[in-house]
Formats: sequence, structure tokens, C-alpha cells
Amino acid sequence: MIVASMVDVVKRYGKLQALDHVSLSIRKGEILGLLGPNGAGKTTAIRVLAGLIGADSGEIMLRGERQDVNNIRLKQHMGLVTQEVTIFEELTAEENLRFFGGLYGVKGELLRRRVKETLEFVGLSEYAKKEPGKFSGGMQRRLNIACALVHSPDFLIMDEPTVGIDPQSRNYILESVRCLAQNGTTVLYTSHYMEEVQAIADRIVIMDQGRVIADGTLEELIGRIQHEETIRITVTNPSSALTESFRAIQGVKTVTQKGADYTIVSGASSGNLNRVLAVAQQSGGVSNMAADKPTLEDVFLTLTGKKLRDGEASA
Ligand SMILES: Nc1ncnc2c1ncn2[C@@H]1O[C@H](COP(=O)(O)OP(=O)(O)O)[C@@H](O)[C@H]1O
Ligand SMILES: [Mg+2]
Repeated sequence: MIVASMVDVVKRYGKLQALDHVSLSIRKGEILGLLGPNGAGKTTAIRVLAGLIGADSGEIMLRGERQDVNNIRLKQHMGLVTQEVTIFEELTAEENLRFFGGLYGVKGELLRRRVKETLEFVGLSEYAKKEPGKFSGGMQRRLNIACALVHSPDFLIMDEPTVGIDPQSRNYILESVRCLAQNGTTVLYTSHYMEEVQAIADRIVIMDQGRVIADGTLEELIGRIQHEETIRITVTNPSSALTESFRAIQGVKTVTQKGADYTIVSGASSGNLNRVLAVAQQSGGVSNMAADKPTLEDVFLTLTGKKLRDGEASA
């Protein structure tokens, strides 16, 4: 089931086309990773999807209804973790949560319970009575996430929730996102860190310069760019007969030998890893073996001709 979708959405800021006919959809219970460099249009896409700003054209659907800036009811099912931390530094952690819960109409005993649960969920129970002004960046981010969860949304949108924080808080947040998804929450997770998206997303949408340039599971995206498979293997008994045996495996394109080290290149998805291993084992044994696996970075590089990290000067 599709929880949210954008079809052919255009959004301009003056002359700049921040969203250039963007289409994407988010399925119930999945973590959709929205990946792209700074300025790609991720935050704009989120603002339009959440109904914070209007689109110039195109259609935004949520739970089968048309989203627009005046649709308050749709917003109640949604939690939004903004890119900038939006908490009150002079209120305690607990008061922040009571405030945001109240905005969504949660009150009384339910509010009390949700405040306690969400603080626990983000690991800040001990700091309930403390003011976040003195929190570390990671703790502030975790409180920011709690504020978006206190009303139990079934669709959570997170805009770069791990920028500029310590690895421990980052892992905590990634674990929390997994946990939410396991419990049925649909998550749109936005980041320019490909490792994060690669680690937690069920499906990935890659944006660049206002456009969606790829959409699929990690395997699909990699399969699309991968034309060859490279296996490196070190054998105990190198011989020219072994080289010939490797060459005879179906799908193998080239075999190069340097002493005991062989590099075997096959066509994409040849599934030759096991065959190569079996042939090598028959001829005496294997002391080392590795297969080169492309990453999302390679996908981005192939599709755009530039590195995802370009433009991220000193971060
Ligand atoms: N309020 C705004 N007014 C004018 N230009 C904007 C505004 N917000 C974003 N932009 C521009 O739109 C493009 C997309 O920005 P944004 O959606 O923030 O990208 P991302 O979140 O992927 O970094 C960028 O070129 C940015 O400078
Ligand atoms: Mg952004």
C-alpha cells in the first residue's frame, strides 16, 4: 500500500527550479532513503510532501487524499523531524515534548504516558527535567526526534537527522529508525550520507539538481550500473592449467595471473563466485578471496559523473 506519493511535482523559488518534475512514492512500513547532495531539493520535496509549502504543479497524495497546505488532518498522522533543530532551549526536555504533543491535540494521561515513552525511546529519560540548551548536539537531535514522535505518527519524515553529531548518537538514531519501522511506522529518511542510506533504507530514491535520477532497492540500483564482476583469489597451487580452467567457466571475460594471485572478471550477475571457488579448491586450495562490490557512491558517480561528496567542502 502506498502511504504517500508525489507525481510530476514542480516547485520553483523565483527562477530556480528546486523540484523538476519529481515523482516518488512511499510504501507502508518501509524506510525510504532519499539521498542527494546539498542543494538537490530534498528539503523542498519534504516541505511539499508535508504540506508546509505548496507546489507549482503536480500532485501530492497522502493516505489516498490530496495533500495541500490547508489539510491539517493529514498532518496529524505525520511526524516531521526538521533539518534544523526546532526545540525550545529554555523549556525542559519534558516540557518540550508536552508542548509538541499538545500542538497535535494529545492531552491528559495519554500525553503524560507518551512523553515518558518517547523520552525513553530516544534515551533521554534521565534528562527529562533538564533544559536542552546545555545538551550535546546529538542529544538535541534526539530530543528533536522525540518531539516529532510524541503524537504517535504512522509516517515519520526525517530531514538529515544525523548531521554534525557524534557517532554514538548517530548509531542510536539509526537503531531507533529501524525499531520504528519494525513496529510499523513508515519512514522517509533523508540524508546526503550514502553509508547511512545504504545501511537502513529498504528502498532508495536518489535526487540531484531537483530531479529524481534513480529509484530502487540497493541491489537494483547497483545492478543497473554494474556491468562486470571482479573476483580476486589467491591460490596455493597456481598453474597455467588452472588459468585455463578459470577461463573455461561460463561468463568469464578475462583472467589475469600474477604469481598466486588471480583476477577474474565476469559479466554482471554471473554468479561465478562459487564456481571460481570450486575450481580453485579442486586444484589444491585457496588462501584468500575477495569480490569487489560497488556502493551507492559508485551508482551516483555513474549516473551524474560526479562524486556525492563534491561541494561538501570541509564537513
Ligand atoms: N526558500 C528558498 N528560497 C530560494 N531558494 C531556495 C529556498 N530553499 C531552498 N532553495 C534552493 O533550492 C535548491 C534546493 O534546496 P533544498 O531543497 O534545501 O536542497 P537539499 O535539502 O537537498 O539540500 C537549492 O539550490 C537551494 O539553494
Ligand atoms: Mg536539506
